[in-house]
Amino acid sequence: MRLILEALPGFYKVVSEELKLKGVEGEFKRVNETTHLLDLKNDEQLPLLRKLQTINNIEKILVEIPYVKSIKEFRRECRRSLIELRDYITKSTVVSARVKDVKRRRLLVILREIQRIFKCSLSRSVGDLDLVIRFLDDKYVVSLNIGTFQPLYRRWYTYHKSRASLHPSIAAAMSIIAGEQSRILDPFCGSLTIPIEYLRMWRRSYATCIDIDKKTIINSIKNAILSGTYDRMFIIVEDFFSAHLREQYDTVITDPPRGLRLESSIKLYKKFIEKSINILSENGKIVTIVFKRDLKTILKEIPKYLSTNIPLETVQGGYKVCILEITK
Ligand SMILES: C[S@@+](CC[C@H](N)C(=O)[O-])C[C@H]1O[C@@H](n2cnc3c(N)ncnc32)[C@H](O)[C@@H]1O
Repeated sequence: MRLILEALPGFYKVVSEELKLKGVEGEFKRVNETTHLLDLKNDEQLPLLRKLQTINNIEKILVEIPYVKSIKEFRRECRRSLIELRDYITKSTVVSARVKDVKRRRLLVILREIQRIFKCSLSRSVGDLDLVIRFLDDKYVVSLNIGTFQPLYRRWYTYHKSRASLHPSIAAAMSIIAGEQSRILDPFCGSLTIPIEYLRMWRRSYATCIDIDKKTIINSIKNAILSGTYDRMFIIVEDFFSAHLREQYDTVITDPPRGLRLESSIKLYKKFIEKSINILSENGKIVTIVFKRDLKTILKEIPKYLSTNIPLETVQGGYKVCILEITK
């Protein structure tokens, strides 16, 4: 079975790692920044894909129509290829079609042929079948959106979302980058997106979660309960900078307050890194998010005896962000 996996920009490596981690076998290829093709070796593994935390959507490719220059010939190709849709579309099916990077004229040809062959109605809203039509690798591809029918697991737990909530896929990517550790700390946990994604990814780990805002924490606990990770969390309402933490942690993984002016942001990162280094175990590391525009300045402030790495660059809320890894 051939599938399209949609992820955030820059996610190719973390998605490949998660496929390996979850035991999915098949050939995985990057098509563009956000689109990837997976030729699944064994179709029975499809349910495993619903457990992937780093992807945003899955589509099953139903038809691939080769690109031909003449519209007349293209119409003929459409007719030939679309017949393969017979198992999915019947007269009573309402088909909704979404489109990505497809020239209007070609799209109309495909849609008209679908209507003509199957005598079905096409709607703009979600129908019985949610098709996605796009141009990929010199072919027009008609795929079935299977993400919408059975939501990916991570959306089930979002009872509370703070204004500054992190995209769950980014939290999952950070969890893969951090690797499996027995004790992690999120000192600015907000709606608990990072601890939840981390504990879902690594089933034997424990997380300590700190936030200064009591109201946020009260609402966020519901997320933790719904996600089934609450019993592996210790939640503290306190200012991280004055908290007396006696334990040592293998990883500090977090998303510090965003939207500050550069100067305050640098001060905060400096204080946060200093304090985190003191509570890290011997080979411990920090995995944190940094706005790309602030990265250079923050890197200059990091003491030379620590090593730094940027394993991922992506987008959060319309801004470019980097994952910064700091190792003792
Ligand atoms: C960017 S948000 C974290 C968002 C979180 N990752 C999520 O997905 O909801 C930063 C959080 O840090 C908290 N915070 C700010 N200053 C703090 C401090 N000194 N100690 C602990 N938490 C703090 C805020 O209340 C806020 O919830």
